[in-house]
Amino acid sequence: MFRLMSLLARVLRYIARLLDQTARWSTHKGLESEHDAQIKKATTAHDMVSHPDEPYYAKQYLHWILPECEKRFPERDPMVLDIGCGQGRFALPMAKWAQHGKVIGVDYTPAAIRKANVYAFEQDIKNVEFHEDDALTFVQGLPGISFDVVLMNEIAIFMPTYREVIKEVYRVLRPGGLLFASFRSQYFNLLYSIRERDWESSRLVISSREGNWGGGTTWFSWHTPADVSQLLNTQGFTNINLRGIGVCSGIEGDPLAVFARPSQFSASEQEHLMEIECAVAEQYAACGRYILAIAERT
Ligand SMILES: C[S@@+](CC[C@H](N)C(=O)[O-])C[C@H]1O[C@@H](n2cnc3c(N)ncnc32)[C@H](O)[C@@H]1O
Repeated sequence: MFRLMSLLARVLRYIARLLDQTARWSTHKGLESEHDAQIKKATTAHDMVSHPDEPYYAKQYLHWILPECEKRFPERDPMVLDIGCGQGRFALPMAKWAQHGKVIGVDYTPAAIRKANVYAFEQDIKNVEFHEDDALTFVQGLPGISFDVVLMNEIAIFMPTYREVIKEVYRVLRPGGLLFASFRSQYFNLLYSIRERDWESSRLVISSREGNWGGGTTWFSWHTPADVSQLLNTQGFTNINLRGIGVCSGIEGDPLAVFARPSQFSASEQEHLMEIECAVAEQYAACGRYILAIAERT
């Protein structure tokens, strides 16, 4: 009788453990999909191509990206992968530049991919292909050593799997290939939290590099220049150079927008701002809206 009771207790403990694990797994999955739903909703509402401020920052990124690509691929024939391509803010100008190459863009927001295809059609750009998929799933399905340039701009901020994706990027890049990846700066999140008098989030920004910053269910990551260098170094990348994007300015709602918001500037004022921001982009990399890393797969 005692042995039967003890066996029953063990079976009950096993079932309880199983139920607990299932509950934790589904809560995690539930949070994950709520996060993804929020990102997709925000991406649908915020068109990176037609937004009044974003094209200025696209130009600033391309100021760093295009000369590097031109130096490395003067024939303009590279295979380019744009991970988290959104509406094609980079995939489209990259395809125009890489006139003898090809650009593949991937993003999991259906509305963004639809817009990217419309823009490509309107601009008669034929050497670009857009895929709707999760970044990690898509990159894992690519053959190794198959791309010359990979872009991964402003996606690690929202993507909990960014480390795994970067590992895969190293695998798919050819030796001598280039990675351009941007990360939300810790400084941006710190200024934002302090402006909101959100002391709990301010502490989270200092003590961690990821989490539900702002207290909601959306997951974010943020970095310092040293974090970015270490992350890419660990994955095997070399010749890592960092540049702050928007070190003195911002889009509506950004902390530095109180100093300068590109869309409120005339064309010539934007040129002055661009020249100055680029001149100090290395020195103040930590202060950018994003930190752009330029790295090589050797
Ligand atoms: C701020 S936008 C940047 C878009 C583009 N790289 C640019 O700079 O214009 C972030 C993009 O990442 C995409 N994204 C976030 N998580 C993703 C994931 N797990 N897989 C694919 N795309 C994702 C979003 O749909 C969104 O288009």
